[in-house]
Amino acid sequence: MTFLVTGATGTVGRLVVAELLEAGQRVRALTRNPAEADLPAGVEVVGGDLGDPGTLGRAFDGVTGVHLINFAGDDYAPLRHGEQIVELLAEAGVKRVTVLGGRVDGPLETALAASELEWTLLNPVEFMSNTLKWWADGVRYQGVIREPFGGRLSAMVHERDIAAVAARVLVEGGHGGRTYTLTGPEALRTTEKVERLGAAIGKEIGFEELTEAQAREMWAGFGMGQETIEFLIDTLGNTPEVGYTVVPTVEEVTGRPARSFSEWARENAASFR
Ligand SMILES: NC(=O)c1ccc[n+]([C@@H]2O[C@H](COP(=O)([O-])OP(=O)(O)OC[C@H]3O[C@@H](n4cnc5c(N)ncnc54)[C@H](OP(=O)(O)O)[C@@H]3O)[C@@H](O)[C@H]2O)c1
Repeated sequence: MTFLVTGATGTVGRLVVAELLEAGQRVRALTRNPAEADLPAGVEVVGGDLGDPGTLGRAFDGVTGVHLINFAGDDYAPLRHGEQIVELLAEAGVKRVTVLGGRVDGPLETALAASELEWTLLNPVEFMSNTLKWWADGVRYQGVIREPFGGRLSAMVHERDIAAVAARVLVEGGHGGRTYTLTGPEALRTTEKVERLGAAIGKEIGFEELTEAQAREMWAGFGMGQETIEFLIDTLGNTPEVGYTVVPTVEEVTGRPARSFSEWARENAASFR
C-alpha cells in the first residue's frame, strides 16, 4: 500500500514518514519545495501546495491513506479549501485519512465529518519538542530557563508517539470517525521538566520564574510579535484541562506505553549541551 504524508518535512510529518517506512509501507511525501525536502531514500517526493488544491491531484493518485495537516502556510492559517481537498481525496479513491489537529477544528475537519472517508482526528497536547524551541539556547549558553508559570502542569506528548499513532491508524484501519487526544504518560510541572532535563544532560539547570510582564518584555526582546506573545501567555497561563489530563490512547493504539519526557530528554540531550 502507498501512503501520502503531508507536512512531511515538519516535526511530526518526518516521523510519520519514518514510522510508515519502518512498517514496510510505500511512502509519498508532499512538500512545497521538493528540492529541499531531504527525506529518506525510497520516499517518493511530490510537489504541491495545500493552499492550492489544483496542485494536489497527482499526490493523491493510487494512495490508500493520507496523513494531513490542517493548515497551509508558515503562519499556520487553517486550510481554507478543506471541502475541495476532501472531494479530491474521495475522487482519487483514498480510503483513510488522519489529521494532525490543532486547538480548533476548521473547514477540513468539517468536510471530513460529512464525508464517507474513514477519517481520524489526532489532537496532541503540547509537543515535548517545544522545549527544544524554547529552552535549548538558555540551557546551552546560560544554564538557566526563564519562563512564567513554573507550577503549570502539562501532559506533553512525544512527537514520535503522535507519528506512531498516525501510522497505525492509517495502515491498520478500524479507527474511523474517532477523535484521539494524545498525551504523554504523566503530567509534569514546568519545574519538574527542568529537573528531568538537567538529569538527562548531566548538568543542573536553573529556573527563573518570570512574572507575566517580565515574560512579555523578554519575548518582545526576542523579536516576537504581539499576537504570539499573547498566545503564549494564554497557553501557558491557562492550559486547558485537556492539556494536563493523561489519557491512555497512545498505548491503546500502538500497543506500547507512551514515551516519557525523561526519554525524550535523553534522546535530545546533545541539543542542550
Ligand atoms: N507544537 C505543539 O505543541 C502543538 C500541539 C498540538 C498541535 N500542534 C499542531 O501541530 C501542527 C504543526 O505540526 P509540526 O510542528 O509537525 O509542523 P512544522 O514542523 O511547523 O512543519 C510545517 C509543515 O507544514 C508544511 N506546510 C506548510 N504549509 C503548507 C502548504 N501550504 N502546503 C503543503 N505543506 C505545507 C511544511 O511543508 P513544506 O515547507 O515542506 O512545504 C512543513 O512540513 C499545527 O497544526 C499545530 O497546531 C502543535
